[in-house]
Amino acid sequence: MTDKVSIDLTGPAQTMLTTLYLKALDADFEQPVLGDRFAKEAIDRIDYDWRELGVSGTWAPLVTVRTAQYDIWARQFLAVHGPCTVVHLGCGLDSRVFRIDPGPDVQWYDVDFPGVIALREQIYPSRPNYHLLATPATELSWLDQIPADKPVLFLAEGISMYLTEEDGIALLRRVVERFPSGELQIDFYNWVGIRSQRMQTLVRRTGSTLHWAVNRPDDILSRVPGIRLLASATLFDASTAERGSGPFRAVRRAVTVLPPVRKALQYHRYAFGPVT
Ligand SMILES: C[S@@+](CC[C@H](N)C(=O)[O-])C[C@H]1O[C@@H](n2cnc3c(N)ncnc32)[C@H](O)[C@@H]1O
Repeated sequence: MTDKVSIDLTGPAQTMLTTLYLKALDADFEQPVLGDRFAKEAIDRIDYDWRELGVSGTWAPLVTVRTAQYDIWARQFLAVHGPCTVVHLGCGLDSRVFRIDPGPDVQWYDVDFPGVIALREQIYPSRPNYHLLATPATELSWLDQIPADKPVLFLAEGISMYLTEEDGIALLRRVVERFPSGELQIDFYNWVGIRSQRMQTLVRRTGSTLHWAVNRPDDILSRVPGIRLLASATLFDASTAERGSGPFRAVRRAVTVLPPVRKALQYHRYAFGPVT
């Protein structure tokens, strides 16, 4: 008898298997970008032939550079806020809450589709002040379940591209309207990322469709009232990209002469509410 967990996911929900696996591969590198031992343990718990994903460790920085960057930004937010709320949307099987291990003042919500949350419950232990919400991101009433009495870190990594622009903007507006202050930390594909989706193994194999292209922070600033830009980076110029391996560094050098490709994956960080 095996205690491995079986999975039955399709479409966007399935994409988190690839991000999890790439983090697990990175954890075995001599010099990892993220070093996520929880991802390694998680893939061992799942009954799945990971080779079916058709990716190798060379691809890992595509995911780990982003995740490591958002870990830095999330830690910065938590370092300057007392009691606060973290809403981690499209969490998949990412172990951020365990990597960051926030203190007792932080209420942490991991949010994803019901099938993903059910899987999470079988893979990871519960912990104090930690909540799981099983819901499509686009049914905005889920936000009403989260007390809005404290500053919020709304962190949405790897999900915006699966939303339509209309749904994505409505979601960001609702967050800013509901909470007194906080940050939006969210990544986007630009038009190159969206138009090249049929060439992206992760997207093609899951049968997902990417919708929302964001080319620059102004695209968000002009449509979500009340926010201000704190920082933006791309896959290739994020501080964490320095940790990438040789092949990644070679691609990084090559794309410096191709700005739309260099900016295909963008990481944005905004604040809203009173300036403190
Ligand atoms: C590429 S994975 C990223 C997972 C995780 N953030 C990471 O970086 O490893 C995308 C995640 O977004 C979730 N997702 C996509 N569209 C969603 C929606 N409309 N509502 C809720 N979750 C969604 C998927 O289920 C999946 O877990």
